[in-house]
Amino acid sequence: MRDFLSIDDVSSEELVALLDKADEVKSKPDQYSQQIAGKQVALIFEKPSTRTRVSFEAAVASMGGHPIVLRGDELQLGRGETIEDTGRVLSRYVDAIVVRTFGQERLTALAESGSAPVVNALSDYSHPCQCLADLQTIRASKGDLGGLALAYVGDGNNVAHSLMFGGAKTSMDVRIATPPGYEPLGEVVERCNEINLETGGKLTVTNDVLEAARGADVLYTDVWASMGQEGEAPERLELFSDYQLDQRLVEAADEDVIVMHCLPAHRGEEIAAEVMDGPHSVVWDQAENRLHTQKALLAWLLS
Ligand code: CP
Ligand code: NVA
Repeated sequence: MRDFLSIDDVSSEELVALLDKADEVKSKPDQYSQQIAGKQVALIFEKPSTRTRVSFEAAVASMGGHPIVLRGDELQLGRGETIEDTGRVLSRYVDAIVVRTFGQERLTALAESGSAPVVNALSDYSHPCQCLADLQTIRASKGDLGGLALAYVGDGNNVAHSLMFGGAKTSMDVRIATPPGYEPLGEVVERCNEINLETGGKLTVTNDVLEAARGADVLYTDVWASMGQEGEAPERLELFSDYQLDQRLVEAADEDVIVMHCLPAHRGEEIAAEVMDGPHSVVWDQAENRLHTQKALLAWLLS
């Protein structure tokens, strides 16, 4: 039994195998229509979601499984039942539990208390399922990931952390540019530096957005205020204004750069509308690939 709480839960080889599987699922979906027949999958959302919720529900159903979608406040969790007791009970009914929550420690507690595999559908710390789709999308445009330069600009958040892990595992040159004080967590930087020693990947954390973007093969951004940080949004709007993914960065990057965003996007804040909707953008393929990579992940965990 395996959990998928972070990209660091899989080896480099397993990660590439998952991406290969996702490409196969994407090209031959009919061959997977019974891949998890009869499996029950609980999908618990303690935060809002469009892509993750719908793509997981569709992924389970289209492989013959049964998705059970629940909001956190519909469960007794919302009335104080512990995450551990919830995990113990759900494991008696379902074959896997997919959870979007706040603290990463809630996922760990759930995984440790029950017997069903647990999948992180976003926490404050990381968003590994997003990263799978991101890597599939980059590979489709650029081929082998090794040595590709990915510049992430904006908040050193959950999405940044997962890209750092994913880039390190696949030997990429990852550059993270954030305003001072919004850098990714030191423990993630340390762990990625450790992984990079083995894989030959590279990680740069900087406050200089142009340094990060120069010659990049991929430009990536995410919202400036994540779910749960709505109160900080006005302050962040000012502090982050020089970190917009705009035409200036596209011009500094490689001429064939692809522009990515995990979505939802705020045009005119973290990304300029002309860039989001411009010729370099691959955001809709990126969103589609959530479906294929999650099918590959569920097939791996459940069959
Ligand atoms: N990218 C992503 O996870 O989107 P949702 O919040 O809509 O699921
Ligand atoms: N960093 C964002 C990602 C949304 C998919 C958030 O956590 O709200």
